[in-house]
Amino acid sequence: MALWGGRFTQAADQRFKQLNDSLRFDYRLAEQDIMSSVAWSKALVTVKVLTEAEQQRLEQALGVLMAEVQADPSAIVNSDAEDIHSWLEQKLIDKVGDLGKKLHTGRSRNDQVATDLKLWCKQQVSQLHHGIVHLQQVLVETAEAHQDAVMPGYTHLQRAQPVTFAHWCLAYVEMLARDASRLQDTLKRLDVSPLGSGALAGTAYPIDREQLAGWLGFASATSNSLDSVSDRDHVLELLSNAAISMVHLSRFAEDLIFFNSGEAAFVELSDRVTSGSSLMPQKKNPDALELIRGKCGRVQGALTGMMMTLKGLPLAYNKDMQEDKEGLFDALDTWMDCLQMAALVLDGIQVKRLRCKEAAEQGYANATELADYLVAKGVPFREAHHIVGEAVMEAIRQGKALEALPLADLQKFSMVIGDDVYPILALQSCLDKRAAKGGVAPQQVAAAIAATKQRLV
Ligand code: ARG
Repeated sequence: MALWGGRFTQAADQRFKQLNDSLRFDYRLAEQDIMSSVAWSKALVTVKVLTEAEQQRLEQALGVLMAEVQADPSAIVNSDAEDIHSWLEQKLIDKVGDLGKKLHTGRSRNDQVATDLKLWCKQQVSQLHHGIVHLQQVLVETAEAHQDAVMPGYTHLQRAQPVTFAHWCLAYVEMLARDASRLQDTLKRLDVSPLGSGALAGTAYPIDREQLAGWLGFASATSNSLDSVSDRDHVLELLSNAAISMVHLSRFAEDLIFFNSGEAAFVELSDRVTSGSSLMPQKKNPDALELIRGKCGRVQGALTGMMMTLKGLPLAYNKDMQEDKEGLFDALDTWMDCLQMAALVLDGIQVKRLRCKEAAEQGYANATELADYLVAKGVPFREAHHIVGEAVMEAIRQGKALEALPLADLQKFSMVIGDDVYPILALQSCLDKRAAKGGVAPQQVAAAIAATKQRLV
């Protein structure tokens, strides 16, 4: 039965009901709807709408419903109720009779859904935060195990300067740290309770809304009832947090897809996260990573969709706002799944150190070293850059690495080059020299690992 029978003489068209009902997705707010209902029943005692005894009966019945919901959340969707709020009200009336009809006094589904969704978001923030920290932990462990795995670093997807696999892992630790801090930031603004804002103008009962907010674990109560029921900034913020983090995960995925390619062959992914081809027996495809990369798209779509839904909406509540849930649920589920999948991919990864080193030695990744060497001998950098360019061209012509050119050949480009150039051109020296904060030098990487580990405990 609908909640508004009195004013209507005709039943809703089935097709309208189909479009209008939200139970098939907002059933996920059942626990939050029960929690906010318990708090509301307590508030109704303070304004003498309910007696203590009535409140206790309601709270007890809501407790039973909570246990039922937790045992089988999906059972809810078999009901014909319009949404989770009407579902809960009907269930309560089934259990306690007319007393159940008193609970909605002074409350609207508008402040109710705003409250439930914020409670749900708070829970999600904490779960997502755990997901991020776990992936960071796995990245740090992987870094620790691969501190001496030298590989080429790229710009423009051209070999640029050598780095280590550890240093690459730590780059993603940093991105995820920003993702985590964005979540904490979102939480601060989200932690304000709309309950007691009524339909739009505030509740007509003199409820202490700060106390009510405190019962629900919110830091405070909202300040304007119109804003309270219309605000979905937290949905936008969480979607934007998800969208940014998914961009990070998609880059992580793409890097590894490339590292795993036959062309690079720097890593081999575990069988647990790859799949074969139905036709080509030799194939082992990086599907888990491709899906992380691909799913980034739907999360960006959810953010854009919600922005468009809210754009130009008049105050206060409009049914358009029911569109906030599916995109948010899907985006946050997807984000969480991808965080977990990224950790699983790292868990079984094999870094092929020899092949990585070989690639780092090719591609003239030590050319900058030769330029810096010339600078140390008094050649201005721009001139040194030109000299090295010519030396690289000669090395390419001879099909050799820079360090394989005999001294006499190198001296054709600059007489300041001496025998002492060879140790400078070694891979290890390229790494060692980058010892300023954030550089790839082994002691910097070791310090970054130690600092991250400390941050994560
Ligand atoms: N199912 C609705 C939603 O998710 C609940 C609020 C309904 N309010 C209303 N005035 N019809 O937005």
